[in-house]
Amino acid sequence: MNESLEVLLLGPREWRPLFHVRGLWQVEALYWGHYLARFAPLDIWLQTRGLGRSRDDFRFGETPWATGLELLKLAEVGPEDTLYDLGAGRGKMVFLAALASGCRAVGIELLGGYNYVSRRLARWLKIENAVFRDEDFLRTDLSPASVVYLAGTTWSAETRERLGERLDTLSPGCRVLSVSHECKRPRLELVGESQHLFSWGRAKVYRYRVSDWMSP
Ligand SMILES: C[S@@+](CC[C@H](N)C(=O)[O-])C[C@H]1O[C@@H](n2cnc3c(N)ncnc32)[C@H](O)[C@@H]1O
Repeated sequence: MNESLEVLLLGPREWRPLFHVRGLWQVEALYWGHYLARFAPLDIWLQTRGLGRSRDDFRFGETPWATGLELLKLAEVGPEDTLYDLGAGRGKMVFLAALASGCRAVGIELLGGYNYVSRRLARWLKIENAVFRDEDFLRTDLSPASVVYLAGTTWSAETRERLGERLDTLSPGCRVLSVSHECKRPRLELVGESQHLFSWGRAKVYRYRVSDWMSP
């Protein structure tokens, strides 16, 4: 089966994490039931109107479960970490990080329609280390994060430029994973890059470590 179709249709590659990560299949099953029943896609589309932002910032796309696991492993995310997913969408990476690594996972998402469903799921399934905040990541305090995930393949150039400036405020030692786009900031040291599968096809993921404020 074509790779991207397999992701979208939950093919065998996506089943494995559902069986291996405790609680994940409940997230997947409850999400779609709840989301489609409330007709959230329309709700979400309506929310993007009037925000004065490029439509590209709100394109649907997400990180497959299997790819998320690969990335959590590469970034060595563990229970002591606080992971921020900037632009969390329906919260897949946040639930996965919380359940698979035991870290505190925080989803920052501008569209409250996604967060409403994610918060209910976290409450129903008693996943206390998954938190969802209705916030603009261009204004969020990023200093508590020890891992930052950016899946902003379609974000507009302006959003990426402004977010780059926010990355200058990250704490030393923080790891950053950026999908599709290199982050050329003075404090970000590139530690690796690799190709991974997403719902929109294969893309490169750049991994960084934030240097100390005092480093040149
Ligand atoms: C491609 S989705 C990524 C979903 C998720 N991170 C994943 O990997 O599965 C990008 C998300 O960024 C959100 N977004 C765009 N601009 C934002 C902003 N300024 N603040 C918070 N979220 C934003 C969009 O609403 C969308 O849900």
